[in-house]
Amino acid sequence: MQLLTLPPSPSLATSIRATAQVFEDPKSQALLAHLQQVAPSEASVLIIGETGTGKELVARHIHNLSGRRNGPFVAVNCGAFSESLVEAELFGHEKGAFTGALGAKAGWFEEANGGTLFLDEIGDLPMAIQVKLLRVLQEREVVRLGSRKSIPINVRVLAATNVQLEKAINAGHFREDLYYRLNVVALNLHPLRERPGDILPLTRHFIRTYSERLGYGQVALSAEAERKLVEYGWPGNIRELENVIHHSLLTCRDGLVRAEDLRLSNLRLERQDDSTGANIGESAEELLQRAFRRLFEEHDGALYEKVEEGLLRAAYRFCHHNQVHTANLLGLSRNITRTRLIAIGELVVNKRRSQDSAIDNRVVHLSI
Ligand SMILES: Nc1ncnc2c1ncn2[C@@H]1O[C@H](COP(=O)(O)OP(=O)(O)OP(=O)(O)O)[C@@H](O)[C@H]1O
Ligand SMILES: [Mg+2]
Repeated sequence: MQLLTLPPSPSLATSIRATAQVFEDPKSQALLAHLQQVAPSEASVLIIGETGTGKELVARHIHNLSGRRNGPFVAVNCGAFSESLVEAELFGHEKGAFTGALGAKAGWFEEANGGTLFLDEIGDLPMAIQVKLLRVLQEREVVRLGSRKSIPINVRVLAATNVQLEKAINAGHFREDLYYRLNVVALNLHPLRERPGDILPLTRHFIRTYSERLGYGQVALSAEAERKLVEYGWPGNIRELENVIHHSLLTCRDGLVRAEDLRLSNLRLERQDDSTGANIGESAEELLQRAFRRLFEEHDGALYEKVEEGLLRAAYRFCHHNQVHTANLLGLSRNITRTRLIAIGELVVNKRRSQDSAIDNRVVHLSI
């Protein structure tokens, strides 16, 4: 298990400050490796992920691994301010620049000088401000509102979004030139349901953190509770898992978290039901055809792999992680099932076993 402990950094954090991180699923380990590679550079990084996937935590980690770690880390939520306010906040203002500007004030760029500026929810930035932001990034200087003097700045910009900016560009809400400027490196944070190997390590991490905070002794997790956590879809991702664990610790008894202590929402299920259009009497095949059509409309590539991976994961979970049952259900040989489960990170092999998997790979090639 990979657990990194970071010193707390001074900041204008918008959420709880993280001090430890879990990256255990193969997808998360790949992300961590990529992150460690790009962190020391000065490149702008665009962090893309659904709500609660750890975008801010990743931004802080990049800062802490960069040469700017001793400088400030300033996190700002671009969606939380009106257009006129966000401009003054970003670039600063002089006394009397607008009604209510009683004194001069440095903006976030100046505050972050020598360090990192994290622009959260960048997709919410109004178009007029996007132009100004682009200019600041190109010229590496800011001009406060109501001033003519430009101030040189030395800031690395990290941005985050939970929406597909390409779609915002096509819809005319986001500038393409700014997108390329921010997206020198893109880090995609997978939703938690696509990196199931993180669920239990994160659970243990949150149990430890919160039981310490609550002054509890050791707290264990029942096998049934584990299964419930792994099978759930986590629409709110890591933040939701954190809240569920926190809540479960408040209600659990005798130092054991049981399945009934875990309060999971059925948001995702309801949404899925809605998306089927509630066609009563529709067969599974018909439902699948419609799901495919939607996937074709929404996806731009790698669909074959995605569908195969999704099928394998679902079957493996349905069979309670039993390889033989999964193979029977799918009508595949056990070898092929095993090889593919390893390839998608559902199954971790030890050294001796990985030799088997090389053999398995050969079997796959021969049998295709
Ligand atoms: N890899 C991780 N290991 C441990 N904790 C994590 C990890 N990733 C995220 N968290 C925790 O999950 C919570 C949500 O993370 P964070 O605020 O970074 O997500 P976000 O993507 O910025 O969410 P939002 O879109 O809602 O702003 C935080 O409390 C954070 O500490
Ligand atoms: Mg955030």
